[in-house]
Amino acid sequence: MSAQSDALAGETLAQIASEVSNCTSCALHTTRNKSVPGEGPANAEIMLIGEGPGANENEQGRPFVGAAGKFLEELLAQAGLKRSDVWIGNVVKCRPPGNRDPMPDELAACNLYLERQIEAINPKIIITLGRFSMGKFLPGVKITQVHGQMRKIGGRFMIAMFHPAAALHNPTYLPHIKADFAKLPGQLDVARKELVKSVVAEPKAPYQPQKTEEARQIKLF
Ligand code: URA
Ligand code: SF4
Repeated sequence: MSAQSDALAGETLAQIASEVSNCTSCALHTTRNKSVPGEGPANAEIMLIGEGPGANENEQGRPFVGAAGKFLEELLAQAGLKRSDVWIGNVVKCRPPGNRDPMPDELAACNLYLERQIEAINPKIIITLGRFSMGKFLPGVKITQVHGQMRKIGGRFMIAMFHPAAALHNPTYLPHIKADFAKLPGQLDVARKELVKSVVAEPKAPYQPQKTEEARQIKLF
């Protein structure tokens, strides 16, 4: 169950996007053209989280619109999903110059935006693309050892995957990223079933008949 209604979640996401476009919390704001807050349905079941905008994203203000984005759309199609079915964003919202790695202080400065986006969307599955977004959920873990495995973290599931750009540049990752996306429909089924179960199982407070308190109050009058 979404913590916010879809309409409210949409408003929250728009508010975050507006804050991001004015943000000066880290040095990346000085070199960005357009910030890239992320995009997708406010009620998406799946959130994909990449690293940071590249050159094309910095020009357009939208995530994954270059070569890596095209490949990502192919991978999604392989899992029976359209780009418009999922929410797509990044751990840093402004382009690191020359596509260098985001620095720890930049990741820290930008983190609260992503936290708020996750809370608003309340996805069933978060898919991290690459090491930097994986590090937010599984610090100190090697991506080669955990990629494609779904695990429960808090009230939702996460799956670490290779970054599509890394797979395009290093063909040894290609079969792995394809196989991991091919597993996604089955994992989504599992996540849906498990999360329905935990919602049903959640209210643990013992059933208290209202009668005693009501009866006591009625007696008072
Ligand atoms: N790579 C990323 O990590 N994010 C984008 O938005 C585009 C390419
Ligand atoms: Fe702000 Fe994030 Fe952009 Fe840094 S990367 S300026 S924290 S929006």
